[in-house]
Amino acid sequence: MPKVTILPGGWVVEASRGQTVMEAAMAHGLYWPTTCWGHGICTSCVCTTDGRGLQPMGPSERRALAAEFGEGAVKSRGLRLACQARVEGDVVVCKPGVRPLQPPLE
Ligand code: FES
Repeated sequence: MPKVTILPGGWVVEASRGQTVMEAAMAHGLYWPTTCWGHGICTSCVCTTDGRGLQPMGPSERRALAAEFGEGAVKSRGLRLACQARVEGDVVVCKPGVRPLQPPLE
């Protein structure tokens, strides 16, 4: 199974091919910033990546990102919506704010 590495926290989760980055993280008990819960609207889930291991960006993802950040920034900063970016192989993304849903018991 492909692995998704999430920086800066250093989380590594397995993903099914075709699963979104955010789905894979949440399936492993991680919180991912969102306000639209994966509908590709809010852009709160935006992450940076070099794009390796992800399926190409679709038109609705590109429109949402360009409207929020500008077309140039989408390319130069390697932005993707984690709720829309589908895993094809091993991938590394950066998204501050990802954390376990439950704090560790003490
Ligand atoms: S969770 Fe809202 S755009 Fe991805």
